[in-house]
Amino acid sequence: MLSVFLAFLLPFILFFIATVWSLFSNYLIARQVGLPIVIVPISPENPVWMLLARYIIPILQYVPFGNGHFSRFCHIGWEFDEKARAHIELGDAFMFGTPGKNWIYLCDADAVHDIIKRERQGEFARPVELLAMLDVFGPNISTMNGSDWQRQRKCTAASFNEQSNLLVWKESLRQGQQLLHYWKDNSHVDGPATMAKDTRTLTLDILVHVAFGKSFDFYGAREKKITSGPLSYRDALALILENAILILALGPQTLKKLAFVPQLGRLSNAAEQFRQYMLHMFEEQAQNVQEEKAQGNLIKSLVRASKDDKMITQDEVIGNIFVFNFAGHDNTAHSFAFSFMLLAAYPDVQEWMAEEIRYVVGNPDVLTADYNMFPKLVRTLAVFVSHVRR
Ligand code: HEM
Repeated sequence: MLSVFLAFLLPFILFFIATVWSLFSNYLIARQVGLPIVIVPISPENPVWMLLARYIIPILQYVPFGNGHFSRFCHIGWEFDEKARAHIELGDAFMFGTPGKNWIYLCDADAVHDIIKRERQGEFARPVELLAMLDVFGPNISTMNGSDWQRQRKCTAASFNEQSNLLVWKESLRQGQQLLHYWKDNSHVDGPATMAKDTRTLTLDILVHVAFGKSFDFYGAREKKITSGPLSYRDALALILENAILILALGPQTLKKLAFVPQLGRLSNAAEQFRQYMLHMFEEQAQNVQEEKAQGNLIKSLVRASKDDKMITQDEVIGNIFVFNFAGHDNTAHSFAFSFMLLAAYPDVQEWMAEEIRYVVGNPDVLTADYNMFPKLVRTLAVFVSHVRR
């Protein structure tokens, strides 16, 4: 009986020893850098801990010494709770020593800029092993280093220009107006709050319009109907992005094998439909690209780079369509959700912003606001940029 018990415990004991050993080795490496070190005994990127931390950390405040570094830093999203406190206490640069990797946190715009520049010149390599799961629909810019990164970057950079900024502006006004209409509609006030879901729809609609030339009208989370029929491009993508961690962790093939579980089956169908949409989009754009040579949106730039210039494969085009949706959607949606919450909590800031918008736009019909007004909205820019950078 004892031996069965020990055999059961052995993997956990070995795991514990390996963790302590890795933490110690990383600590020795961190010491050579000379920055203040915070020991974080569980890696922030550990997926099991990611799921459990939100339940365990709040309990720790009732435990003696439970409010130390562990509960402050050992969970995803600690930055939002801490804000400037960690840097005020530990300096502009400090390190986390964890069993997985050492992490450096910087609060210096010039230093961050310098690192990104040098990463792009190939001086630092990004940890592709942490990002590899983003290859789920094909290799892409987020998972590349060196010359492969430069090649993919060249194919995508051209579409980020003033022409697409103008499209973002126009579509944002249209979608924002529809969202406002929905939020002001009293028939939707009962039931759970859906603000964060609504900002996801808002940002996704703008993104797919600007980058992929697809137009949708905004609908609120409470208007959403679950249908058994084929999903639209936007709804398939929304379902994939809402369940991104699951898809990234399992991959479409495993998901397909598990399709007998109803929720996973729906997700697997969405992944397959999305892939079909992307293939269709590729073929459709390939036709258009042959007819018109002018610069276009992201999908056109990618397809042109693939068909005309042979710089990128079809798999890479599909991988990039997914990753631009993934990378461009969550952060903008969350930035909006947090900003709206904070503006509601600080009505004086809201009024300060509104005063300037009224002054600059000067027209009650915001839909007609001109793009050249954008740089004049310095208060809005101050609120959003400082919030995004925080
Ligand atoms: C609140 C908005 C956003 C924030 C805070 C943000 C932040 C970042 C950061 C910090 C990086 C890493 C930079 C690096 O390592 O070089 C990054 C990369 C990236 N972002 Fe964003 N981003 C935002 C919006 C977007 C949008 C709207 C898109 C797409 C249209 C996008 C697409 C990407 C892509 C594709 C990468 C990888 C780029 C590369 O490897 O060269 N992001 N983003």
